[in-house]
Parts: sequence; structure tokens; C-alpha cells
Amino acid sequence: MNEIFRIEAIDHSDCERVRSTLLQLSEFWRKRNTKLPLFTLGAATYIDSRPDLKTYYGYVKSDNPILWEHFEWVYQRLVVALGKYIGGPINFDHDQAVPGFHLYRFHPAFEKNIAEIHFDRQQTRLRWPENAEIDWSDPISFTLPIALPRTGGGLHTWEIDWQEFREAGSEARKLLIRDSSKTLHVYRLGELVVHSGNQLHQVAPGVHLSPEDERFTLQGHGLYCDGAWRLYW
Ligand SMILES: [Fe+2]
Repeated sequence: MNEIFRIEAIDHSDCERVRSTLLQLSEFWRKRNTKLPLFTLGAATYIDSRPDLKTYYGYVKSDNPILWEHFEWVYQRLVVALGKYIGGPINFDHDQAVPGFHLYRFHPAFEKNIAEIHFDRQQTRLRWPENAEIDWSDPISFTLPIALPRTGGGLHTWEIDWQEFREAGSEARKLLIRDSSKTLHVYRLGELVVHSGNQLHQVAPGVHLSPEDERFTLQGHGLYCDGAWRLYW
């Protein structure tokens, strides 16, 4: 699927509850940029699986218990919301990181295009059970906005598919990007945004950010493995 789906998952007061818990847990935030106030809570495959998986699985061990303790209720709501779209069963029964948070505080640089334009291919980097039956063709990626800048936030996508991009040479790739217009999908608090990750995408830069602005989102992926959707980050 190269479409974006939206599902109301939690309401604004729930978002505020998550936000205030995140602020209480700031000692566990991991800084992800030496110069910018960009953090995560939880291990993220796309960052922590390089150069090898040791860091990732180390953070899984330290961070999963914290996330479970404080956000189990959010995960339950996530399963209910996602179930409306992907059906079930949906669980967290795996060795990976549970969904975690991207945490941006204010910095004027976040108005620039600093986020990578990418496909989500992290599922292939992780350890899944040997002989597991995995549907590699139909993964999902999701974002649940918890706090957004006053001027909003969103996701940019391009009509370019992973297969098409992979098969193109480097010149053809440039042309693909040049000839494809990008779409902004505006985030709404508490509304889950789901896509395949197989369509070229990027965190949309901020607009006229103010010092009090925050951009907190719950992030994760799903992979259908041995008869169930496994949610992880
Ligand atoms: Fe992504």
C-alpha cells in the first residue's frame, strides 16, 4: 500500500498525559544530535542498529521496561486503533524495542530540511526468530503525534516506491525525485498516521517555530511475523 491512513487513537487530554509523563522521564531521553535538541526515548532501529546490533539490543534491555511501565496504556490504545485498519492479532511479542518517542525541543534549525529523505527498511536489520514466516512485502510504519508546534507538523511523501527507486540508477533516482511532487500530510494530536514506509518520505520541517514549541511523537513499525503483527521501533 502506498497510501496514508489516519485513525483517531487518543484524545487531547491523553496526549497531555503522555506529554507530562515524557517530561518526567527526561533523564532517560537520549540525545541524538550533538548540536540540536533532538532526543529519543527508546531504542530506534534506524539509529541504533549501526554499525551493529549490540547497541540496539543493549538499549532494548534498558529502555523497554521504562516504556512498558509508563506507556502500557498507550500501547493498548495503539493496538485498538491499529486493529481498525490492519486487523489482528497485534502484539509486542518479540525481542525488539517497543515503540518509542521522537522528542524535538525548539531550535531554529528545525525549520530547515535536516531530516533524511528515506524509505523505512529497518526491519531487515533486526534479528527475527529463525524460520519465522515473515511477510516482508507489507510492513507498516506509524506516527502518533503527542505534542506539536503551534504552527503544526507533518510528514512529506513523494510518489516514489522503494522497488522503483531500488531498480533505478543514481541519475534516474535524481530524476524520479525531481519529477515527483511532494505531499504534506498534516499531523493532528492523537491521530495515528500509518503508511507502508515503502514510499519515499521525510519529517516535514517546522514553520515559524517558537521557543516554547515541542514536537513529541510516538514512533513505530509493524511486521507480520508468524501469524501476528509485531509492533516495534
Ligand atoms: Fe521513516
